[in-house]
Amino acid sequence: MTSARITPDLERVGGELETLSSYRDPAVPGWTRRVFSDVDREARLWVASLMAAAGLEVETDAAANVIGRLRGTGDRSGAVVSGSHTDTVEGGGRFDGIIGVLGAIEAVRCLNEAGVRLEHDLIVVDFLGEEPNDFGLSCVGSRAVAGNLGDDHLQLIGPSGRRLGEALAAAGGNPDALARARWEAGQVHCFVELHIEQGPKLEESAVPIGVVTGIVGIDRLLARFARRPDHAGTTPMERRRDALCGAAEAVLAIERLAAGGVTTTGRLETRPGASNVVPAEADLWAEARSDDEEWLRRFGGAIEDAIAAIGDRRGLGSSLRWLSHEEPVLVTDWVAATIDQAASADGITPLYLPSGAGHDAAQMARLGPMGMIFVPSRDGRSHCPEEWTDLDQVGRGIAVLAETIRLADGITG
Ligand code: GLV
Ligand code: MN
Ligand code: MN
Repeated sequence: MTSARITPDLERVGGELETLSSYRDPAVPGWTRRVFSDVDREARLWVASLMAAAGLEVETDAAANVIGRLRGTGDRSGAVVSGSHTDTVEGGGRFDGIIGVLGAIEAVRCLNEAGVRLEHDLIVVDFLGEEPNDFGLSCVGSRAVAGNLGDDHLQLIGPSGRRLGEALAAAGGNPDALARARWEAGQVHCFVELHIEQGPKLEESAVPIGVVTGIVGIDRLLARFARRPDHAGTTPMERRRDALCGAAEAVLAIERLAAGGVTTTGRLETRPGASNVVPAEADLWAEARSDDEEWLRRFGGAIEDAIAAIGDRRGLGSSLRWLSHEEPVLVTDWVAATIDQAASADGITPLYLPSGAGHDAAQMARLGPMGMIFVPSRDGRSHCPEEWTDLDQVGRGIAVLAETIRLADGITG
């Protein structure tokens, strides 16, 4: 193992960040590149070409993950794996997920340029669709790799009546051969993801590197209130059964239940959706997050009761469907310690912090040791066009990632 200093090429990385951000949906504000859109597919073809140019053997698997492999000397089983996602939320930013993919590719180039030969294979992945999609599911690609994408998921129906499986096929995957996308636990020596913090702690502490301690659990639900449409001018207030008023109460109930975690209703749809018709149906999509599995369970029971009670009191039909449940995960001690050692080698005393955001790393933790490196987010902003991390901060993250990869290669896990 050589100890040559690893120095990311900031101009190169900055240019690639710029290029990737040019793949955006012009019809939507911000830097929108949603999974299953044409622009996402085009962008991921470009990422594949970047991996190939960096010397990786590239394949797209049955889950449409873009996977690049650098062969190690072959002496060690299991690969060191790094990566993240390049899809964005609607109106999102230019860094969430993206620096974890471009950063891992730059780490490969830096290691090559420094003459480092790894004993393990090094795999870089651009996972398909980490952000919640129109089918109500997040982390599509990493779920498939971790064996957590089932037939029930593929049957989920999106707004246009299309099933998730069809969308996956259109994105370049092969839903009929999904089992082939699944990895075995022994294939992963460790997984390390570089990501922006998406919160304010690193910036407030003026610390350039975070070592993630764990990733929150996330429960997502779809609730529906329904009765019948009525004329908005002629139906007396006491006779109407307003589905949206039921949903509005539910939104506030979800907010009130937040103590001990965080809760959000991020989407609300009503039908028929006319100002002069009493709403007949209202759908709301909400989520709860906590690092405490028991709290998530209690929230689940409480919101089921609250929604049923609101429906009963208002004479509305009500239903609640759980879309996904992700348990909180802790990172692996030795991977966190290796990230810490890599940061220390760069003169940094990192900050240890939990992640309130979900990540592909939470799925990859099912397969083997996992850790995450955070870099600061300006004003703690994320999932918005203002999302920003200075290029030199991205570069420090990449240097720590590359050094972590080099150190992890030598660890007998
Ligand atoms: C992913 O960005 C999430 O935390 O929702
Ligand atoms: Mn995100
Ligand atoms: Mn992300």
